[in-house]
Amino acid sequence: MKLGVLTGGGDCPGLNAVIRGVVRVAERQYGDEVVGFLDGWAGVLEDRTMTLDVEACRGLLPRGGSVLGMSRAQPFMYDDGPDRVRATLERHGIDGLISIGGEGTLSATSAMFEQGFSVIGVPKTIDNDVGSTEMTFGFETAVEIATEAIDRLHTTAESHDRVMVVEVMGRHAGHIATWAGIAGGATMTLVPEVPFDMADVCESLVRRHGRGRYASIVVVAEGAVPVEGTLDLVDRGIDVYGHKRLGGIAAVVADEIESRTGFETRVTILGYVQRGGTPTAFDRVLSTWFGVEAVHAAHDGDFGKMVALQNGEVVRVPLAEATAQLKLVNPALYDIAKVFFG
Ligand code: F6P
Repeated sequence: MKLGVLTGGGDCPGLNAVIRGVVRVAERQYGDEVVGFLDGWAGVLEDRTMTLDVEACRGLLPRGGSVLGMSRAQPFMYDDGPDRVRATLERHGIDGLISIGGEGTLSATSAMFEQGFSVIGVPKTIDNDVGSTEMTFGFETAVEIATEAIDRLHTTAESHDRVMVVEVMGRHAGHIATWAGIAGGATMTLVPEVPFDMADVCESLVRRHGRGRYASIVVVAEGAVPVEGTLDLVDRGIDVYGHKRLGGIAAVVADEIESRTGFETRVTILGYVQRGGTPTAFDRVLSTWFGVEAVHAAHDGDFGKMVALQNGEVVRVPLAEATAQLKLVNPALYDIAKVFFG
């Protein structure tokens, strides 16, 4: 077989480990050839490729980012997009295309399957919000990074009697915030799934500090939303792909805390630090397992599927099902975080 592989959307730790897994099993077990498309779907649309073989994958397992490059381009952004994709795949004789991406890339991949393309999805994103899989690779690494940052913020917060507001990624779902909030012992965690009221946040901090504690850590997901009409957020517009620009909510929350409570408050935005660098051991294993299983799926002719982690096993689920809705934070887990609020 001749397989294509692309990495779409925002990068995350473990992409190279998936690529390495794909290439290893494809070449050594099946005698396949693998073509890497550069910069996500853009590389397929514009026919930009690199050859991927076992030799080219040396040293890739621990390396962050993607050797293939990334973009948020999708075939359906152009009227002739699907035709251009078809032409490129035919030109290279590709029998199956493995598309590694988050919600946007995988939705496009699912739609391409509906149009007759032989595609398989692999779920990546530090946000962990792809449906039908218990975990996406990259998430655990991001949680580790955020937790370490929160641990460090505790000691400086305590030394200065400050409230620290930490902003983590999480556009539609607060998985990183909830996990890192619990793991880091946050005083409060604000997530997109549960609109927050500044009055409640401040009341809780005042109660805590009234009990003799003078330092607090408030974790806020970049996509957290206030209860309607309670707080104005700056609209930062949309990017070229139509995505709302996020980032900066921590500053608004911190200003409100300081002006309403008088507690000295500081802001830390973790940003892209959460996405860069080497994957954890867990993410290396999950990425490798996903990559290998994607190739097996291609050889079974099991197209239109996404590899997924379910009950400790890597299984295949229909792409249409996986992309039907985002996976939000389990309310039971958020309730655990709430036990430690205030
Ligand atoms: O990959 C998901 C994500 O990390 C979101 O949490 C974040 O909002 C977005 O990517 C930002 O990505 P970029 O600025 O690269 O478009």
